[in-house]
Amino acid sequence: ALLTAALLTVAAPAARAEGACDPGETVIKFSHVTNATKHPKGIAAQMFADRVNKEMNGKVCVEVFPNSTLYNDDKVLEAMLQGDVQMAAPSLSKFESFTKVFRLFDLPFMFKNIAAVDEFQNSETGQKMKSSMERRGLKGLEFWHSGMKQFSANKPLIEPTDAKGLKFRVQPSDVLVAMIKALGASPQPMAFSEVYSALQQGVVDGQENTWSNIYGQKFYEVQDGITETNHGTLDYLVVTSTDFWDGLDPAVRDQLTTILHEVTVSRNGAVTEIEAQNRQNILDAGSKIRELTPEQRAAWVATMKPVWTEFVKDVGQDNIDAAQAINA
Ligand code: LMR
Repeated sequence: ALLTAALLTVAAPAARAEGACDPGETVIKFSHVTNATKHPKGIAAQMFADRVNKEMNGKVCVEVFPNSTLYNDDKVLEAMLQGDVQMAAPSLSKFESFTKVFRLFDLPFMFKNIAAVDEFQNSETGQKMKSSMERRGLKGLEFWHSGMKQFSANKPLIEPTDAKGLKFRVQPSDVLVAMIKALGASPQPMAFSEVYSALQQGVVDGQENTWSNIYGQKFYEVQDGITETNHGTLDYLVVTSTDFWDGLDPAVRDQLTTILHEVTVSRNGAVTEIEAQNRQNILDAGSKIRELTPEQRAAWVATMKPVWTEFVKDVGQDNIDAAQAINA
């Protein structure tokens, strides 16, 4: 009986148990890839579900599937277009086959911190980006923040030349591929759920991600240490399919929009604190975090920033200028 109880605990999705929605309720399956309790995205998805399930009981039921238990990010957008899942929040790097506008957010050293990302996204240009995939059937609802990315590897990374010849896992993004190549290293696109074992088995030597993902996936266990590069941003778009969204009763759609927006404002405001906590959790777990001197960091900037020129025509010089003006 104990074993059965343990299995049930592991298998249960975070929001309501599958099948627990009441008859007649519109079911929203929300699929994502991070943990549910210590990660900015996991916490936000759960909070959205809890509010909808309480405030819209009898009308709408949200079931959250965290930890890639339903789909990983390679599959989730196709599944959404098929109507098999109704909401997800993949990182902006995962929309490559739908739009190139989000490449701006992957360019190294484009935004100095998450507050700058927030300000850009809340501008008219940023808000317009959410609808860039509507003709492909995807509707962007809100941007959710994650954090700044750090590098880790199976050896110390201090100078950019330390990365030469290493293999790094990247998200499936051409910008990230070009960025790793600029280091003289080898980019390996791979699903998030596969990264821990790839690092452990030496399929790749290193990776780049936020404190919350490095802690949440325990990457620090199988890396020499983490270098605090803050070289890029990780951000998400909460998406649904235009078919599903347009088919909702307008009052239901409005209420969902309001709840999602309130959750977004509240959770985006808490992201820096959660990232700092997960950075501390990594230190408490006994892993090394290496800070760079201004000169060392300048060497990483000089090595990686030239990739911007390859992507100016995809992202627009005006958008680059607007992002840089916010950094100033
Ligand atoms: C990754 O694939 O590294 C991230 O996009 C995962 C996530 O959703 O934070």
